[in-house]
Amino acid sequence: MADNKIESVLREDRQFEPPRSFVDGATLKPADVKALREAAAADHEGFWAAQAREKIDWHKPFSQVLDDSDAPFFKWFADGELNVSYNCLDRHLATKGDKTAVIFEGDDGEVEHISYRELHARVCRFANALKANGLGKGDRAVVYMPNIPQAMVTMLACARIGAIHSVVFGGFSAISLRDRIDDAEAKMLITADGNYRGGKLIPLKETTDKALSEGCESIEKVIVYKRAGADVTMTEGRDIWWHDAIDGQSDECEPEWVGAEHPLFILYTSGSTGKPKGIQHSSGGYLLGAICTSRWVFDYGDDDVFWCTADVGWITGHTYITYGPTACGGTQVMFEGVPTYPEPDRFWKMVDTHQVTIFYTAPTAIRALMKQGDEYPQRHALDSLRVLGTVGEPINPEAWMWYREMIGHEKCPIVDTWWQTETGGHMITPIASSTSTKPGSVTHALPGIVADILDESGAPVTDANSGGILVMTKPWPYMLRNIWGDPERYRETYFGMFDAHTYVAGDSAQRDEQGNFRILGRIDDVVNISGHRMGTMEVESALVAHKAVSEAAVVSRPHEIKGECIVAFVILKNDDPSDELASELRDWVAEQLGAIAKPEEIRFADGLPKTRSGKIMRRLLRTVARDEEITSDVSTLENPQIIEQLQAKGS
Ligand code: PRX
Repeated sequence: MADNKIESVLREDRQFEPPRSFVDGATLKPADVKALREAAAADHEGFWAAQAREKIDWHKPFSQVLDDSDAPFFKWFADGELNVSYNCLDRHLATKGDKTAVIFEGDDGEVEHISYRELHARVCRFANALKANGLGKGDRAVVYMPNIPQAMVTMLACARIGAIHSVVFGGFSAISLRDRIDDAEAKMLITADGNYRGGKLIPLKETTDKALSEGCESIEKVIVYKRAGADVTMTEGRDIWWHDAIDGQSDECEPEWVGAEHPLFILYTSGSTGKPKGIQHSSGGYLLGAICTSRWVFDYGDDDVFWCTADVGWITGHTYITYGPTACGGTQVMFEGVPTYPEPDRFWKMVDTHQVTIFYTAPTAIRALMKQGDEYPQRHALDSLRVLGTVGEPINPEAWMWYREMIGHEKCPIVDTWWQTETGGHMITPIASSTSTKPGSVTHALPGIVADILDESGAPVTDANSGGILVMTKPWPYMLRNIWGDPERYRETYFGMFDAHTYVAGDSAQRDEQGNFRILGRIDDVVNISGHRMGTMEVESALVAHKAVSEAAVVSRPHEIKGECIVAFVILKNDDPSDELASELRDWVAEQLGAIAKPEEIRFADGLPKTRSGKIMRRLLRTVARDEEITSDVSTLENPQIIEQLQAKGS
């Protein structure tokens, strides 16, 4: 199974040491990293316990570290009590109250600086508003917001009162929003009237109303932040404006102290079956991961200006916008817009304006900006930068080198961070101050993370450059705790392949002679479009829900900018294939799931290649979608004549 996706990759011999000047100025020195690695290797639990005592302010200290008595349902620091928002805000007030927590830049270029004191006050006020509207400990609140400080405030306010947030990315459709609300049985929805991205209006409230028009019976209240000034309908008794909800609320709110295992949030992500999985994260362990990884990997210190370009709707935005930077008491930039608006130098201009020192983005953005030409970064000095990061998908060496030379001016270490929604934070990645890096390689597991590559029988793959299944053989504090409402699926998906202590990431990987990891791709039916996960079955279900479609199979193919894109093979019921219908189906998928899922190409045929037992031969479809020559044996096909038809280009 794993070798489906294992493609041969070129040997990469270029290697770059962290520049001397960087190491000299780093907060975390190579000797510190060595000490961390040794401590973790000597005593896994003791190492994490020491980190948790040092980096988190506990309301009640923990006495238990790891409880694995019910593996794979692990507990960390279970008898400790804390509040995550207290750790992100209150504990900084005495020494850093006036320090800028967030430099927000809106789509239209407006800039707002928010201090820790101000952020704390806003979170408290909104937390009081949430309580006044009936949200309490353990209740779920869905957040469908633009990437603006109010989204962060909402998440931290939920954390403050022990409510569990589930953020749904603003690009998701009404149907996706509805499914997530229903699965989480959310009591409250927090949204905005709309917002502008790249100058285009995103009608969040209108989409919300569509979502709530069917199902969603659990929703009692909808709080609406006025952002766009869009014309919206407010439903009497259900919808409240944000400004009315906080009116008269105190800017003090006693934190709700919760156990370390209390769920902090649920975040839905795609899996191999049609239904998205509600990834459930803890409070204590998750927070610890957010702090340690921000500090170690990026060398994030008190004087840095950190900028993660992700949206809070994804895990990257959760860990490296809402929680990591604030828990570290650092300054960060938050951006509402897109990299190419109003011009393709927006990112680089912002780096200079805000004197960003640590910049973290996705390979898709790098590839897209690289294509725009060197003149855009060259317009700006970019000399404040000291660390560059990437996340979400494999980065091709060409883009890596461009990033290093054109953006980092050869003086910034690049941290290519491998992790997942499920892992909560970075797992396999360089540490800026002390790892020698190679283009396209995610290098080594962090201290306290034990990664390995196994073959299908569970034996370690020891041959350098042979591929296998990427696993973690020890639990770590910031791992997911469950799939919301579906513990069996959790056990089966992540621990079903080997044993209850071996987490299967769903990726294949290989290691070179020096032990550097390289990620090869997914081993399941999940595709990665612009760094975002999409299950092929989700897209297939959306297609067959269209009245004209009788059957559909979806595969991916490489895409120059997006990394991968979707190709759909569609069998129609009665209609004749046409360009119009192909375009209608593409729009239909976008409407069902969101724009990310929109197929790049639709090919019509009279049938799909199936084995005699009726299984769709996806491997063959992948070859066809890539316009590659078919070398595999097709004699076992029930309908070999279908191949030619599929090879004909669609629309
Ligand atoms: O296939 C891996 C890829 O993205 C998947 C996780 O997607 P998601 O849960 O949406 O989280 C993305 C942000 C953490 C992984 O299973 N992936 C993530 N980072 C990298 C990567 N592939 C290669 N290199 C990376 N640095």
